[in-house]
Amino acid sequence: MSEFKLATDTQEPDLDTAMKVVYQWNYEPEVEELRRLYHKATEAQWVAERELDWDQEIDRDLFSTTPLGAAVPIEKTSYWLGLDDETRWELSRRTAAFRLSNFLHGEQGALMVASQLVNAVPHTDAKFYAATQTMDEARHVEVFAKYIDKLDEVQPIAAPLKDILDETLRTDDWLKKLVGMQIVVEGLALYSFREMRNYTEEPLLKELLTYVARDEARHHAYGVQYVSRCIPQLDDAKRTELEDFALEASRTLIDNRNAQTLFSEALKIWSEVGIDAAALLQSVQDEREELTKNRTAGRRLGPISGFVVPTLKRCGLLSERVATHYHGFLVENLGANLIGEDVEQFLAIIPDLPEDTARWVMGEIQ
Ligand SMILES: [Fe+2]
Ligand SMILES: [Fe+2]
Repeated sequence: MSEFKLATDTQEPDLDTAMKVVYQWNYEPEVEELRRLYHKATEAQWVAERELDWDQEIDRDLFSTTPLGAAVPIEKTSYWLGLDDETRWELSRRTAAFRLSNFLHGEQGALMVASQLVNAVPHTDAKFYAATQTMDEARHVEVFAKYIDKLDEVQPIAAPLKDILDETLRTDDWLKKLVGMQIVVEGLALYSFREMRNYTEEPLLKELLTYVARDEARHHAYGVQYVSRCIPQLDDAKRTELEDFALEASRTLIDNRNAQTLFSEALKIWSEVGIDAAALLQSVQDEREELTKNRTAGRRLGPISGFVVPTLKRCGLLSERVATHYHGFLVENLGANLIGEDVEQFLAIIPDLPEDTARWVMGEIQ
């Protein structure tokens, strides 16, 4: 425990936000599905200290199965597998700490946005639900911080994630908060947690992600149910504004230039560990086909086209106008092979949302 101070050394300067606060005098259930989700959430609360065994050491050998989130699974290249145990552990541990740190900071953003939603959404059922989500997100911050502490040190937040969190916290529009957080950021998080959970064999990490991802599936459901209720009530101008807000957030998250910045972070870690980055990259290059051939179509599409765009579609936020923009920047980032030559092809490739997100997250259905 560090010494208690009124202003801490680790806090950021204040961020001015323009949130509006709404009292609601009707306490009767009004949006049935949200009331149900709230009840489900209260039943599903868990205690991080009690449910997880924090005394267990991280299993170093099994930890190396943890996906690192690159477009190609670098952790499966022959170069990586050929490293001695100690170097491989250093490399996995530090690269994963970087990724997990961004999960952690994203959870802090989610914690603060969820608490804003309690104030800003106009329906009692939606306020109740946001209150349970606030508790969930506090627990998620708690468990990621604890796990990183066992693994390595917390790394700073990546700039694009920080930008989106700032925008979502700053806006005075509760629908933008819902779209930015529950659909784009949570969509990306859910997709990444699912991948990490289903591939890692490290027991503590797998268990932690199982608990977290179960909560996240509910958060996603809240976004889908609430937003899709609201959209038909909006005029065109307002809907366009929301579509654009989601588009900008998605674009920031997977922009090539941002990926470059992340990549140079990874390079820095690699050289500190003392491995030959050029040889590793050569190995990625040579084995790319082999490494990605068993990936399902959904996995190749990545989080935006594989999950966030389908969510927007379900919510009524994917007009042809905005689909054209998605197609444009996704082709730039992933190529027309995967995304389709034109917007019609792109729309045909977009998968449906899984029927049951909670089961999908656990890898029980594709
Ligand atoms: Fe979370
Ligand atoms: Fe969440």
